[in-house]
Amino acid sequence: MNALSQQFGKVAVLMGGLSAERDISLLTGKAVLSALLEKGVDAVAIDAGKDVIEKLSQGNYERVFIALHGRGGEDGTIQGALEILSLPYTGSDVLGSALSMDKLRCKQLWQSEALPTPAWKVLTEENDLKTVEALQLPVMMKPAHEGSSIGMSKVVNAEDIKQAWQQAKKYDDSVIAEQFIEGAEYTVAILDGEALPVIKLETDNDFYDFDAKYQSEQTRYLCPCGLSEEQEQQIQALALKAFHVAGASGWGRVDLMMDAEGNAWLIEVNTVPGMTSHSLVPMAARAAGLEFPELVVKILATAA
Ligand SMILES: Nc1ncnc2c1ncn2[C@@H]1O[C@H](COP(=O)(O)OP(=O)(O)O)[C@@H](O)[C@H]1O
Ligand SMILES: [Mg+2]
Repeated sequence: MNALSQQFGKVAVLMGGLSAERDISLLTGKAVLSALLEKGVDAVAIDAGKDVIEKLSQGNYERVFIALHGRGGEDGTIQGALEILSLPYTGSDVLGSALSMDKLRCKQLWQSEALPTPAWKVLTEENDLKTVEALQLPVMMKPAHEGSSIGMSKVVNAEDIKQAWQQAKKYDDSVIAEQFIEGAEYTVAILDGEALPVIKLETDNDFYDFDAKYQSEQTRYLCPCGLSEEQEQQIQALALKAFHVAGASGWGRVDLMMDAEGNAWLIEVNTVPGMTSHSLVPMAARAAGLEFPELVVKILATAA
């Protein structure tokens, strides 16, 4: 038995699950599992279906690595079950997970703390669509609780508002129309209370959509991100604050946009960001001198 397998005991890596992001989660889970095995950790994969609680309570696990994205896995649900089972798990607790998954509640919290986030309207029913007039087009139409850019679109013309809303509404009762920030996109990985080097994302698509995230070879990732040291530190500090205000902890990632005047705008917190070898948190970690297997072990160590 090596030192890590002694330290962590038997580890369940939860992956897959029932959300719209199942396929991405399987990629994350497999990458995490093989990194843990490579490091000598006694890790086992569990596909988090409806029988997940049964599987977890019967396996003599000592710790859980949550590699689930989206609803059921990133929203506090599985975290609650793990609390009941007294199993330490990676990432944010029930409250931090639930708040971070809810883009609307998260924005409300940031606003109350005077942190910058784009203006928005909540569109629950068709009647609400006229409130979008209070924002300037373009707006970003998004389901309040999805990830991976699912159900989202950029609306440039007023006549496209309804269709974009209907598209987002397929995924969520609650839809947000958010002021579109023209400018550069950045993301800040957070590990154990510290911000890693900032990554700049560049795509030729309208925005960082599903294709730009997972399919396109044309998406560019810049790390170092090209900002001055001072600006980078400001963005890192803002991301850390946004992360904590949302109640998130352990590890995660904060997405931001920067407008033409250099103002940063908070977009969202991810409490279980992608963890394939091509993902953003591993990229930022590498820039800080931390290779993928070491990163995975560090995340596992935050499970308490
Ligand atoms: N207000 C906005 N202005 C400009 N681009 C946005 C805005 N909101 C989202 N985006 C773009 O859409 C992408 C996905 O949005 P995000 O809210 O992060 O949802 P997801 O949970 O699907 O990642 C972002 O990475 C960014 O490219
Ligand atoms: Mg995002």
